[in-house]
Amino acid sequence: MPKWLDNAVFYEIYPQSFQDTNADGIGDFQGIIRRLDYIQELGCNAVWINPCFLSPFGDAGYDVADYYTAAPRYGTNEDLRELFTEAHKRGIHVLLDLVPGHTSVEHKWFRESMKAGKNEYTDRYIWTDNVWESPENMGCLRGISPRDGAVALNFFSMQPALNYGYYKITRPWQQSPEDEGPRATLDAMLDVIRFWLSMGCDGFRVDMAGSLVKNDEEGKGTIALWNKVRAFLDRDFPEAAFVSEWGEPDKSLLGGFHMDFLLHFGPSHYNDLFRCDHPFFSSEGKGDVSAFVEKYRDNYEKTDKKGLICIPSGNHDMDRLARRLNPDEMKIAFSFLLSMPGAPFLYYGDEIGMRYVEGLTSVEGGYNRTGSRSPMQWDHTANGGFSSAPSEKLYVKMDDAADRPTVEAQMADENSLYHEVRKLIALRQAHAALQSNGEIEFVYAAENAYPLSYLRSAAGERILVILNPSAKAAGFESELPEGELIYSFGSPAKKEGSTWKVPPCSANYIRL
Ligand code: NOJ
Ligand code: CA
Repeated sequence: MPKWLDNAVFYEIYPQSFQDTNADGIGDFQGIIRRLDYIQELGCNAVWINPCFLSPFGDAGYDVADYYTAAPRYGTNEDLRELFTEAHKRGIHVLLDLVPGHTSVEHKWFRESMKAGKNEYTDRYIWTDNVWESPENMGCLRGISPRDGAVALNFFSMQPALNYGYYKITRPWQQSPEDEGPRATLDAMLDVIRFWLSMGCDGFRVDMAGSLVKNDEEGKGTIALWNKVRAFLDRDFPEAAFVSEWGEPDKSLLGGFHMDFLLHFGPSHYNDLFRCDHPFFSSEGKGDVSAFVEKYRDNYEKTDKKGLICIPSGNHDMDRLARRLNPDEMKIAFSFLLSMPGAPFLYYGDEIGMRYVEGLTSVEGGYNRTGSRSPMQWDHTANGGFSSAPSEKLYVKMDDAADRPTVEAQMADENSLYHEVRKLIALRQAHAALQSNGEIEFVYAAENAYPLSYLRSAAGERILVILNPSAKAAGFESELPEGELIYSFGSPAKKEGSTWKVPPCSANYIRL
């Protein structure tokens, strides 16, 4: 694993909404460069940038039309190279977003694959062998090509699935991952990876990494495929970091990923924390963290205590943290996010508690996700400092609430969420036990109960974390000794006899 991942704290940048520098109402690379100092000052030492390649933007760039060309609306490949250089000057590593599962229908590969005559791209996508036959368990497009066949879809209707083969073959048009077509698809993707890593990017977040090989329930085919990528990386780019959107770390780490994301869908119970009717981190105190912890522990064991599961504050696909939590609740949520194993990922604007903007019309395939993708709120100037374009030209509407949070206001207020997040990041950076590779042992995580407590340890240092988001005092029995308070929000937890007494709405880190 690249050494820099040990203490990486990521900042996710949704490029279209971060900083516009040429007044077209869309964020751009120069805008990201301009804000690198901000990211550094917050304490983040890595960024993940959502897809920024040529695209019709039917799915915000997850519909790639050319993997080798930066989207002109963001700038040029040279701007992107400059971004890598400027980031590196500040000790910031950059992950791009690799979308290996599908392309846009506008991609040249796809246009060629639609042709009736056989050519280099005939097997690049999953096509059935007659227009009336549908691929099982997948949507498809039919009647769009002179080629007689229907093409499988991975996500939206304009995102045809690239062909990496089938693990179990049940129809004549399905190919094995070892067949020529699927192998050529993988080779083409390796070329893309090589291109950007050679230009200076430090790795990739990989979109839908777990579903490349089809009919592959246990993921064996997809794991084998990623192992080929791993062999290539070990040989040519051993320092490149790969983080998967997979949600099953026992599989993705076997595939050679360094870290995997916890997702807001699937079996992780991640939503129990911040995004359900009664989130654990709400002060109403009706949450239940136990199923999350059980699943987490399970994954942790299955991955040999590598524990490299990245827990994001949010992302461009889910509701903003602030949709259900108030600023104090978010402070406690961040004291959790920034003290767990695996690299934390902060979604842009979550550090100031940017809100989910209700009632927006879908933009660029966002649908319900659009409200989490509004422009960054920097300051009190027009468009929150995001853009000097007329407001109606912004590609997506801003939060227009009079009291919308801004970076400027929160920097000026030492009790703000921004300052708490900054403090927590600095603390994480100062203690190996709190970082990615430190061990975790859950001390208290009972059903329908508060607080949550766990012990982090590394290199002889042990830090007990006690979090009580609830407005009621709580307590638990533990043999662990008292120690030195190194972080406290709310009031300190205290040990009386064998009981830890935990004040309402508090977060404490205690060095044992
Ligand atoms: C997951 C991405 O995060 C999401 O934004 C996208 O729409 C789908 N994958 C399809 O690529
Ligand atoms: Ca712009």
